[in-house]
Amino acid sequence: MTRLGILLTSARPNRVGVHVSQWVHDAAPEGVEVDLIDLGELALPAFDEPHAPKAGQPRTTPHAEAWAQRIAALDALVILTPQYNGSYPGALKNAIDFLYAEWEGLPTLLIGYGWGAAGEVLPPLEALMRRVGADVVDTIGLGFREDLSVEGELCVQQPKAEQLQHAIERFTAEVPAKV
Ligand SMILES: Cc1cc2nc3c(=O)[nH]c(=O)nc-3n(C[C@H](O)[C@H](O)[C@H](O)COP(=O)(O)O)c2cc1C
Repeated sequence: MTRLGILLTSARPNRVGVHVSQWVHDAAPEGVEVDLIDLGELALPAFDEPHAPKAGQPRTTPHAEAWAQRIAALDALVILTPQYNGSYPGALKNAIDFLYAEWEGLPTLLIGYGWGAAGEVLPPLEALMRRVGADVVDTIGLGFREDLSVEGELCVQQPKAEQLQHAIERFTAEVPAKV
């Protein structure tokens, strides 16, 4: 069974991200197991490992180990990012920095939301995920007014809904059959 992670990276009490995560969850076909990962709930501390994860040293804290195992269990990942001052939330960068090998080759779809169809946040996030070796399959930018209201009511344009569907189908097709 394909295990798809949906990473919710904003933590405001009235966050729009939950509505976007529901949209992605609804697009997952039967047979796809979804792990909704809420970075607010996860509450990772600021990066506190002695070594860069790229060095491949054993992890030293239960929170780093649990986070690594959660990502390692995924076949594919959708990262949802708001646009905060033209970039992604600091909590997302911190969560990415905690790992290295777990990102490598992970099929990943990036979905940004904000003004200007999240055009400021998607390029730097894509560059970051490619730098840590993720297989970024696509990016989708949802814009306030054209795809969702500032309160999070979704009215996503059809081509973007199709883009999501294609990415999820691709994830499912890429997972080798378990014997
Ligand atoms: C700290 C902060 C900075 C923001 N900066 C931007 C920005 O640079 N560009 C933008 O389009 N929207 C910006 N916004 C508006 C957010 O895109 C909008 O509030 C969005 O709903 C945030 O996602 P969330 O509801 O999941 O937290 C900002 C919002 C906050 C809270």
